[in-house]
Order: sequence, then C-alpha cells, then structure tokens
Amino acid sequence: MDRRRGARLSAVDEDVERVLIDEDVIGKRLNVIAEEILEEFGGQEFVAIVILKGALVFTADLLRRMPVPLQIETLNVASYHGGTESSGQVDILDGKLPDVKGKRVLLIDDILDTGRTLHEVGKKLREQGAEMVRSCVLLSKDKERAVEVGADYTGFLIGDEFVVGYGLDYRGRYRNLPYVGVLKDECIG
Ligand code: XMP
Repeated sequence: MDRRRGARLSAVDEDVERVLIDEDVIGKRLNVIAEEILEEFGGQEFVAIVILKGALVFTADLLRRMPVPLQIETLNVASYHGGTESSGQVDILDGKLPDVKGKRVLLIDDILDTGRTLHEVGKKLREQGAEMVRSCVLLSKDKERAVEVGADYTGFLIGDEFVVGYGLDYRGRYRNLPYVGVLKDECIG
C-alpha cells in the first residue's frame, strides 16, 4: 500500500521504524467489533464516552459503523504526560464527568496498558449511576496490569512496546498516521 499521501504525511512516515497494523486490517477489525457492540446494546440508544485525545480517530471510525441513536461525550484524561511511560496517575483534566445516571455507556480508549485509566474512569461512571458500562479499546498490550481490569471489546493484542498512529501520539505528534506503528529509536528522545 502506498502510504505517501502528500509531503506532510510522508515526513511523519519517515520517523516510523515499522508498521504494526495497517489501515485495511484496522478497518476490517472495526467492522467486526461494531457488529458485536451493536448486538450487545440491542440497537438501542447509549452514550459513547471517548477518552481524549488518543481514542479520537478510533472512535470516529468505529461509531460511523453503528447506525443507532447514540450520544457522544468526551473525557479529557492524562496519564502519560507526553512521554513513553505511564505516570501512574490518572487525571481527569476538566474535572467533570458527563451525566450518565441511568444510562448505558460505552467507554472507548485507544490502548489498555497499565489498566489504570479504564479502571479509574469505569469506577467513576458506575459511582455516578450508569446503568451499564462496557469498555472498548483499539489495542491491548500483552503485559501484566497494575490493576485488575480488562476491556469488553479489544481490537488487537500487541506486545509491550510503545506505539503511535491512528490516534496515539508521542509528545503530541503522529496521531494522524492512518496505521499503528513503532517509531525509530532516534525519534524518541
Ligand atoms: P493505562 O496505563 O491507563 O494507559 O492503561 C492508557 C493510556 O496510556 C497511554 N498509552 C500510550 N500512548 N502509545 C501511546 O501513544 C503507547 O504505546 C501507549 N501505551 C499507553 C494512552 O494515552 C492510553 O489512553
């Protein structure tokens, strides 16, 4: 597949050591997950809560495969603070959860790593009275978690390495890559 879609994107492509999951494979997997989620939610209304910014690209592609009435809310959460290691602390940056009382919720994140984000946010949503909370991640790192948590829907299981693209960043960059990849060592400072 030709990844060079103009000068700007090819400049970020050059920083990528290898493509882990390409665009076509992601698209096919999203078709399957969207079907599974629709089946569980019975085609009825739910609230999709998107964890920013990493899950933005994944969510846009996933939810457009779901022809049901749904509400989209965002949650600004930080745990990496710009680097390649989790800080161990999950901060909800704007401090306020969407109103989920009595609602069915699909929580969407880019990647399950230590597990702290899904654990913390899921717990808060239940405390706020959500009727049902299901979680969905594009990627899950095959590693021991800091907390006991799993996602109800997972796109791909990957090794324990730092990845970028399809919403995931390194210091704010590479989110616009249409695939998931690993950066060259010299690009990680
Ligand atoms: P936890 O540790 O809470 O992690 O499960 C979830 C958040 O950590 C970030 N994260 C990554 N971001 N490449 C990234 O660009 C990675 O390999 C990676 N691993 C974890 C991400 O923000 C995720 O929502």
